[in-house]
Amino acid sequence: MEDKRDQSDHSTNEDTVQSNVDSMATSSSQILSRLKRFNPPVWAQGLKNIPRFIIPLSLKNNQIKPWNLPDIPESFNVFMRREDTDGAVISGNKIRKLEFLLADAVSRKCKHVITCGGIQSNHCRITALAARELGMTPHLILRGDFKNVEEVGCEGNLLLDRLCGAQMYMVPKQSPYLTELKPRMEKLADALREKTGEDSYLIPLGGSNVVGVFGFLTVFDEIQSSVLDSGITDIVVTCGSGGTVAGLCIANHLTGSKVKVHAVTICDDAKYFHNHVNETMQDVGLTGIRSEEILDIIDGYKGRGYGLSTEDELEFIMNVGATTGVILDPTYTGKAVRGMVLELQVNPDRFQGNQILFIHTGGTYGIFDGRINELLKHRKTANSSVVRLWNDKEIV
Ligand SMILES: Cc1ncc(COP(=O)(O)O)c(C=O)c1O
Repeated sequence: MEDKRDQSDHSTNEDTVQSNVDSMATSSSQILSRLKRFNPPVWAQGLKNIPRFIIPLSLKNNQIKPWNLPDIPESFNVFMRREDTDGAVISGNKIRKLEFLLADAVSRKCKHVITCGGIQSNHCRITALAARELGMTPHLILRGDFKNVEEVGCEGNLLLDRLCGAQMYMVPKQSPYLTELKPRMEKLADALREKTGEDSYLIPLGGSNVVGVFGFLTVFDEIQSSVLDSGITDIVVTCGSGGTVAGLCIANHLTGSKVKVHAVTICDDAKYFHNHVNETMQDVGLTGIRSEEILDIIDGYKGRGYGLSTEDELEFIMNVGATTGVILDPTYTGKAVRGMVLELQVNPDRFQGNQILFIHTGGTYGIFDGRINELLKHRKTANSSVVRLWNDKEIV
């Protein structure tokens, strides 16, 4: 009896192994079938290094909506394009770059995706989730000062990184990209190849390279007609690693659109980002024009530095949430929108006209990292949330 059961278990196992192999083959061919040939818009067809494939991962939301942002000078109208609602956990500007980057990874049959960023990186979170969706293992090299792994929490983006089983490697917070993070990504890829025989796809900080830049070239193509219809004069976006604004200003230039593109920095400075955009323009073969001529970089609103908040910045985020129902994050969009509002107040001539489009680049999960909790609980302004114990006699 026992023998028989052993035998039948054995044959069931073999069947299961075979069906796993079959389903792996099917699932990898299903993933390959998601690759689409990328046809660039006519105005981008002369560029170099055009990606061959795109893999659609986001919901496209082309609406440009008026935004009743508080404290805007009367002569201006502000609109918003919501890249923060292009998915749930897989959302934000980085997904538009990843549609090209991960298509490249899939077409090269890579089994691992390696990238890097801050401990609460939106880019790392989206990359990890999207890599899993496409059957690859995500590896994240994260900057944060920890003495041991027990100190690494589960807040905000980290919760989602953990939920999708991302492999995480903590490195010191101040690690520079070129001399520390990039060599570690390469070392990890070598180690994975040695151990598993499998290839890895490496994605730079923020997905900002010549492949990723096509993400926001494509977004510009999608919004171009609504920008024209709404009479938009200026586009404002957050700048963290530079790829989003590089795509926008290159597209704006190539289409001959008369909009002025502004980027509010949340780290580094204008010189650094102009260099980045100039290098990207070289990579796509765009000569005879400099970033300085097609892009206004707004410095001065990074506050205490990357990933750090002041009480004023957090108060600004709470006020925007309570007056407009739009959630900004403390690291990126909160600082950028605050910078935009202050510039509209003190430096209105910097803008080409008075119809301003802010592109919301996401980052929503950053608000769950705990830093705003106590302030929110104790906030006492006219539009603060109020928590009551129900009392029939005195309900309001
Ligand atoms: C929410 C959010 N907005 C804006 C940015 C900046 O985009 P980029 O890195 O392309 O400059 C990032 C990432 O850096 C981000 O996570």
